[in-house]
Amino acid sequence: MDAVTLLTTTRSVRRKLDLERPVPKTVLEDCLRIAQQAPAAGSLLAAQRWVVVLDPAMRKEIAAVTRDAAEESWRKYGHLVDKRMLDSARYLVEHLDQVPALVLPCMPGPVPTGTAELSAYYGSIYPAIWSFQLALRTHGLASSLCSYHLGGREADVARILGIPEDVTQIGLLAVAYSAQQEFSPAVRPPVGDILSFDGWAKQ
Ligand SMILES: Cc1cc2nc3c(=O)[nH]c(=O)nc-3n(C[C@H](O)[C@H](O)[C@H](O)COP(=O)(O)O)c2cc1C
Repeated sequence: MDAVTLLTTTRSVRRKLDLERPVPKTVLEDCLRIAQQAPAAGSLLAAQRWVVVLDPAMRKEIAAVTRDAAEESWRKYGHLVDKRMLDSARYLVEHLDQVPALVLPCMPGPVPTGTAELSAYYGSIYPAIWSFQLALRTHGLASSLCSYHLGGREADVARILGIPEDVTQIGLLAVAYSAQQEFSPAVRPPVGDILSFDGWAKQ
């Protein structure tokens, strides 16, 4: 697959995850090795840690926490989300315990507060997360972020996995082989609506 196709058609896959086929550790290791080539703020280049959950009992516990947190999130923000996306998010949450691999990228310490520090903190892990998702696609896998537990239930997942208190979970990725290989570019704002040259766009 050429780079433009990979970049424009890698979607958040929730309904088309193959819940039956196990994901080999070696594939996840290879994708993470690729993802480690992503940029990060100099001092944070080696800071990230990733936890992969394959154990069915642990996945079940995490799925239960996620379900509670997602219900809470949808009560608050559900009205802001497109119905099709919400239905698909609900499907994934309801099947999360069956998703073969749950992947939690983590960063050290508490989330910083200053704008520059905050930018460097999340900016030093999200490029790797996206590279990981792209790398998965090249192996025929798919993924979706499903991070509802961060809305107040992070400590419950930390307890299940033994993640130390001074570590921040950045998200939760549901990872599986993809039951669909071909995807289309999504509808996004036209570049002309979001770009200006030589200064802020005048409407
Ligand atoms: C920081 C971040 C957090 C996200 N969290 C969730 C989530 O908790 N649940 C979910 O269903 N999708 C989540 N997503 C996926 C977005 O909903 C998805 O990217 C968006 O719907 C666009 O769809 P696409 O990725 O297929 O283009 C998240 C994406 C990002 C970048």
